[in-house]
Amino acid sequence: MGNKNISMAVIRRLPKYYRYLGDLLERDIQRISSKELSDIIGFTASQIRQDLNNFGGFGQQGYGYNVDALHNEIEKILGLDKKYNAILIGAGNLGQAITNYTGFKAAGFEIKGLFDANPRMIGLKLRDFEIMDSDNLEEFIEENDIEIAIICIPKNGAQEVTDRIVKAGVTGIWNFAPVDLEVPSHVIVENVNLTESLFTLSYLIKDNR
Ligand code: NAI
Repeated sequence: MGNKNISMAVIRRLPKYYRYLGDLLERDIQRISSKELSDIIGFTASQIRQDLNNFGGFGQQGYGYNVDALHNEIEKILGLDKKYNAILIGAGNLGQAITNYTGFKAAGFEIKGLFDANPRMIGLKLRDFEIMDSDNLEEFIEENDIEIAIICIPKNGAQEVTDRIVKAGVTGIWNFAPVDLEVPSHVIVENVNLTESLFTLSYLIKDNR
């Protein structure tokens, strides 16, 4: 599988394909044309054919796509057929909300530990976790084979924490702190920013009022 040759633009669309295909499977729909897929996803049919042509001949003229096969293939490409051990750093409002959402574990991303620097937070219980002292991050990462860290701390301090967890072996960072983290090239940072999304909404509705 030539995954390496798939462009980042296509990769960014794959989670959406995966979700819609999953919805189709739940409704027992086994095949779909690029036109029908286009109607539900909102990408053009030609975009869909182009995207899905990147990885194998799942579409057949006159048949459409085999939903299950395509779903499985995208699952593999996205690495969702594997399990990942994660930790969450910063057990405040956002950190607790993420911890309380069970969907990430269902998708294979298991939070193994929660960390905070505030002595008043350390030792408190949240779901199955006792919040741990972030002084002990390195030891936990090494002992529990942690690949992913979810950063939910304020932007001050985020780089320092990043340097420590990267040194301890974390290779993927899901970063919610509004700061551009510097990491070595073998480490991937995926930033999430709800505010940017909200500002996009603002742009789109501002002239309608
Ligand atoms: P919060 O104040 O409720 O929680 C932050 C927690 O991090 C606190 O419990 C604090 O003790 C802990 N903390 C601070 N420095 C630390 C360190 N160096 N090591 C370990 N723990 C540390 O704040 P909230 O509302 O949960 O926001 C957290 C972060 O997430 C902020 O950076 C905020 O800007 C960001 N945020 C990002 C969003 C996004 O869409 N990306 C949405 C909402 C918040």
